[in-house]
Amino acid sequence: MKKYASLWLDYKAKKNNRDCGCLGSISISGAGESDIRVQNAVRELKNGLKAMLDIEPEIVFGSAGSHTGAVGSSSGLSDGSAAGSLNGQSILDNEEYRITLEKDGLAIEANSGRGILYAAFDILRCISCERSLKETYASGKTVRPSNPLRMLNHWDNMDGTIERGYSGRSFFYVDNEIVIDERTVDYARLIASVGINAVVINNVNVKDAASYMITDRYYDKLAKLGEVFAGYGIGLYLSLNYASTIEIGGLDSADPLDPEVIAWWKDKMAEVFERIPTLKGFLVKADSEGRPGPFTYGRTQADGANMLADIVKEYGGIIIWRCFVYNCKQDWRHTKTDRARSGYDNFMPMDGDYHDNVILQIKNGPMDFQIREPVSPLLGGLKKTNQMLEVQIAQEYTGQQIDVCYLIPMFKEILGFKTYCSEKDDTVADIISGKTFGSRFSGIAAVTNTGNDFNWTGNYLAGANLFGFGRLGFDTDLTSEQIAEEFIKMTISDDPGVVDVIMGILLPSRAVYEKYSAPLGIGWMVQPATHYGCSVDGYEYDRWGTYHRADHLGLGVDRTDKGTGYALLYNEPNASVYNSPDECPDELVLFFHHLPYTHKLHSGKTVIQHIYDSHFEGYEEAKQMAAKWENLKDKLDSEIFYNVSKRFERQLANAREWCDQVNSYFFRKSGIPDEKGRQIW
Ligand code: GCU
Repeated sequence: MKKYASLWLDYKAKKNNRDCGCLGSISISGAGESDIRVQNAVRELKNGLKAMLDIEPEIVFGSAGSHTGAVGSSSGLSDGSAAGSLNGQSILDNEEYRITLEKDGLAIEANSGRGILYAAFDILRCISCERSLKETYASGKTVRPSNPLRMLNHWDNMDGTIERGYSGRSFFYVDNEIVIDERTVDYARLIASVGINAVVINNVNVKDAASYMITDRYYDKLAKLGEVFAGYGIGLYLSLNYASTIEIGGLDSADPLDPEVIAWWKDKMAEVFERIPTLKGFLVKADSEGRPGPFTYGRTQADGANMLADIVKEYGGIIIWRCFVYNCKQDWRHTKTDRARSGYDNFMPMDGDYHDNVILQIKNGPMDFQIREPVSPLLGGLKKTNQMLEVQIAQEYTGQQIDVCYLIPMFKEILGFKTYCSEKDDTVADIISGKTFGSRFSGIAAVTNTGNDFNWTGNYLAGANLFGFGRLGFDTDLTSEQIAEEFIKMTISDDPGVVDVIMGILLPSRAVYEKYSAPLGIGWMVQPATHYGCSVDGYEYDRWGTYHRADHLGLGVDRTDKGTGYALLYNEPNASVYNSPDECPDELVLFFHHLPYTHKLHSGKTVIQHIYDSHFEGYEEAKQMAAKWENLKDKLDSEIFYNVSKRFERQLANAREWCDQVNSYFFRKSGIPDEKGRQIW
């Protein structure tokens, strides 16, 4: 009996092995047999090829350019040198690889063990998806990841709970102890196979036992975990308690400019990097939602980040500093105070002051992972600072892995957003890849959706977000369709009919969720605390700064030049577009404007009619998605079928509830009936 699902590394036997004849041998060059990542790549290739094709190709090691037909120095592979080397593997290892079809086999070339590992997974994915090896590799395939850092952030607590976790408990921790077992290795395999190269293993809210991660109590286990990760090219990172000097150090201050505080951190970091040699750095949530930070001492976020960064620099370490800093005790009467502005207001003035091993990690939107938000104006605002985009695949506000919500189309929109920060290469994807401003450290991070459930992500279909995040981070040019298709074929079924049906469920699922939940970019309207299910006024009279400001005449937040001024934080022409109710895209219009219910959208509908129509449609479309799934009953593994089927029942109840509550609420507020005369309570 399997203890957990193998997901996309299931390596099911392939009937259509049309051209596996070309797999007599696989030659590997550029990184040696002694590299643990190469050993893992070879093991993976052998196991996968045996299981899928029942073949055992000869594995030959050579030096780069030693093959007939291989590309050698003309391959375009750049040299492997990179700064920040730690324990033989650097944060910015050269990860490029090339796979070429030769007379009697495939040749893999790379400049690092990571490259070899990714090449092995490329070949296995090709076979898993039943693509032709000959067509894929005949003219040589050279791949270089789009982003330097592709990271998962676990919000796992050491007591085994997971903040915003919807798939069981942590597989890293039980009762404040770190667990390293077979599942740890399989986790590393799974995420490395989609290109993840960095993992933060503990919650950004560092409290209790987690504060002691940087003490003798956990060093040995962390060193061991770091080695498991390193075997799969994954850098180990920890979330850090900014107030460690006080909480574990016995000092009475965490002032980043206090010499005593600095001295404490120097000693501490020397010890930490000695005891956990594979450690690559830290993630810090400071001055946010009750967490301590430099503001307490009248210092800036840059003061805090730079102090730590300067100390970890000699160990090649980096400090990833989150920009989720806002006043979480806002008074609803303060109509000029705007939570959406706070990231920008707190971080933008210090652009250029952050040291070169600091990365600012910026949530995709200015609020908090709603189903629709504009892109944060910090992305495209900051020009002299290393930046990383933070998205959330844990479906906190997007259905909690009960409702199907394939998030890759949303991530594609964010990455493709033109910020107008420079004449060319100005999209979010360009910025975080390092292309726009030549940043050395940059990339993409996701708050992850995993737990110890049998299928890792609660809902099998939520696995598409884990798979997809990795694939997209590695190759930003992939489409949502390509990613969904790969995921389904590798994880659920390669029957073309089944693949089509599930594509038809995944691809529109984000749009469907958006239709039945909060309308036109306004966000929230969720149950407070849990964040699942509808409560239109749930946050309206609370302190969090998440208002919809509906009255009998209209709704929406005025973030224009007449309101909070947030729209003007964007570069032109985005600022003018968002500032104007006539030009602002419909899907964001209530985020930027307070509008009467009778305001006409670009779609030709009024705001109120849009609310009614989209909610009825969203619920109907959710029903259709569920019905499509039910039709697959005889074609799917029953574990997968029932897992998703049961969640669809709950999704329908949720969609119905949202539809009823939102429609009744706005009918009662506005007094305007539905043009189509449908039932509104
Ligand atoms: C959200 C979430 C919190 C989390 C926070 C963060 O507000 O609800 O649980 O701690 O984001 O990103 O730090």
